[in-house]
Amino acid sequence: MSKKIMLSGIQPTGSLHIGNYLGALKNWVNILDEYYGFFCIVDYHAITIEYDASQMKKKIMDAAVEYLASGLDPEKCSIFVQSDIKAHTELAWIFNSIIPVAELERMTQYKDKSKKNAENINAALLTYPSLMAADILLYHPDIVPVGEDQQQHVELTRMIVRKFNNRYGEYFKEPNTYHGRVLRILGLDGKNKMSKSLNNHIALSLTAKETEKLIMQKAMTDTNRKLKTDFGNPNICNVYSYHKIFSDEDEQKEIYEGCKNASIGCVQCKKMLAENINNELAPVRENIIKYSKDKDYVYDVLKEGAKNASETAEKTLYEVRDLMGLIDNKRI
Ligand code: AMP
Ligand code: TRP
Repeated sequence: MSKKIMLSGIQPTGSLHIGNYLGALKNWVNILDEYYGFFCIVDYHAITIEYDASQMKKKIMDAAVEYLASGLDPEKCSIFVQSDIKAHTELAWIFNSIIPVAELERMTQYKDKSKKNAENINAALLTYPSLMAADILLYHPDIVPVGEDQQQHVELTRMIVRKFNNRYGEYFKEPNTYHGRVLRILGLDGKNKMSKSLNNHIALSLTAKETEKLIMQKAMTDTNRKLKTDFGNPNICNVYSYHKIFSDEDEQKEIYEGCKNASIGCVQCKKMLAENINNELAPVRENIIKYSKDKDYVYDVLKEGAKNASETAEKTLYEVRDLMGLIDNKRI
């Protein structure tokens, strides 16, 4: 296998949204000819917050369907479920012995999630980055394509590499974060990052009609603009920030000017946006319907993906344990 390697993962927390699509999935698909991909559905990360066990199987399946629907070609990558490969949690334990607790406590995502789940700040929420580092380093990737919010975790992974190599000898290489054109997409509220848990998201699986309705009802615009005749300020309008992502340059210009001189109202501006988002997502949505009807195929992809990934993962884990002095061939 002479291609370079990428690895990434998404939590199966329900239907993926356009932030996941633009910040992650679409970038993976774009570089699949250049990099062989390991794509993980990280179910062990998803259990660090309260979740409904009766829904988990379905959520994992939905994530796999959405991976495929976004255009990931299983001939060019391995798609698998994290907990199907035991090496992930085993290597995470090893990394727990390397990473200082203070570094874990510093993580922005840990601080945010602890605030939001004050009644359930469990140990796995804290050690979450050790597992993420294991997800990554088992496969020796060159790059880790993720949205901006995950950059800090990739930096920590690089620190683990340095500490491990220092202690046990040069073994891992430091992976680089890879960002596409969209680093971070704001939620419909215009304040926070788009996120399912904040319910400010546009799900990939919505219909075109549902998408339009949601944008009409929930997308924040320039709050100073009350009437269509008011002059708007596109620079502080969240809907315009979406246009910068989903609309071509001519239309962006038309909307920018039209908002400033009040010739285009917020309703029209939102309608144009909904149409462009729907056009972009149409093929993905068709594929979601297609793969949802063919679960046997999706299961085959996950099985094949796990088989493939586990070969690399097992080899890495063996070499790591060997370096650490844990393997004695007379014993096992
Ligand atoms: P998560 O849903 O938190 O598991 O995120 C999965 C991937 O989507 C990660 O690479 C994130 O960085 C990316 N992502 C999540 N939300 C956004 C967002 N609002 N904007 C850009 N990327 C995002
Ligand atoms: N922590 C990531 C998130 O919340 C998901 C993730 C887990 C991941 N393991 C990974 C991303 C490995 C990239 C590589 O989005």
